[in-house]
Amino acid sequence: MNSNSSQPKGHEPVALITGTSSGFGLLTALTLARLGYKIVATMRDLERRDELIQQAEQAGVLERMHLLALDVTDEASVAAAVQATLELTGRIDVLVNNAGLAVGGFVEEVDMEAWRRQMETNFFGLIAVTKAVLPVMRAQRSGLIINVSSVSGLTGFPGYAPYAASKFAVEGFSESLRQEMLSYGVRVVIVEPGSFRTPIWSKGIAGIHNPEGSPYRARLEEVLRYSRRSAETAPDPQQVADLIGRITAKRAPRLRYPVGKGSRMLMIGKALLPWKVLEGIISRSLRAMK
Ligand SMILES: NC(=O)c1ccc[n+]([C@@H]2O[C@H](COP(=O)([O-])OP(=O)(O)OC[C@H]3O[C@@H](n4cnc5c(N)ncnc54)[C@H](OP(=O)(O)O)[C@@H]3O)[C@@H](O)[C@H]2O)c1
Repeated sequence: MNSNSSQPKGHEPVALITGTSSGFGLLTALTLARLGYKIVATMRDLERRDELIQQAEQAGVLERMHLLALDVTDEASVAAAVQATLELTGRIDVLVNNAGLAVGGFVEEVDMEAWRRQMETNFFGLIAVTKAVLPVMRAQRSGLIINVSSVSGLTGFPGYAPYAASKFAVEGFSESLRQEMLSYGVRVVIVEPGSFRTPIWSKGIAGIHNPEGSPYRARLEEVLRYSRRSAETAPDPQQVADLIGRITAKRAPRLRYPVGKGSRMLMIGKALLPWKVLEGIISRSLRAMK
């Protein structure tokens, strides 16, 4: 454990992570376990646990891993998982709100059920887990909540309005929560990754319909081409897990941590450039992806 760690001394710190069946969640579970955390690795479907168990075994951290079922869209499942965590560990030092999915399509063509699923998972789910953990951290007078947002929480891209809306909501929620919890010793941080190579893109792209005869067909095809290319060429998601590891060791973390070239460039671009210039750059990048 890093000597600068703000985690309380004298006991093994505990991290509860959502969505650990793949991607950032799985890598974060392994990374924090290597840093000395006891991990409560949660996933909505425990049948998808094999990859995490296998990698934890290889990394020699399996004994630090406790797997629990947690579907962020099911309040009873959230309450049961937090209760089981407390029975197991007696405390929660770090919560990583990572579970998420990406719904895409042009606004007019995304059905309301898909809009709701997007918000239920990425936004209301994150709130439900946070609300269940807050009383624990407030009573401890310590804790760190890391909300995994996205570059899409900073700038909306065409073809991914549901995803952008959910992540913008996470950003506003986190700003308010951070200020509410400051005097209770609970710190709130937002991690904002650009594109990284995880299964989220193939899952999301598979769910996008681009029907024959749609007035948006050609534009949506550009977006899909861009997404497929990004999914193939995106960097190693371990960078995000490593960043989360570093954040847990900080006594006074910042609010926002953009990670990945695209995310940092967009953050600077959005701060410095007029919106019209920025949307021109986004549009040219999409068209260039032939
Ligand atoms: N990869 C990127 O480029 C990127 C960039 C910016 C932000 N992000 C964010 O990073 C987070 C992790 O995504 P990822 O890229 O690592 O993708 P991923 O590999 O698809 O992981 C998403 C995880 O969330 C889980 N999940 C989905 N719905 C859930 C629910 N209702 N309850 C509990 N868990 C649920 C998934 O479980 P199943 O296996 O059961 O589906 C999976 O474990 C997400 O919040 C995503 O928006 C990703």
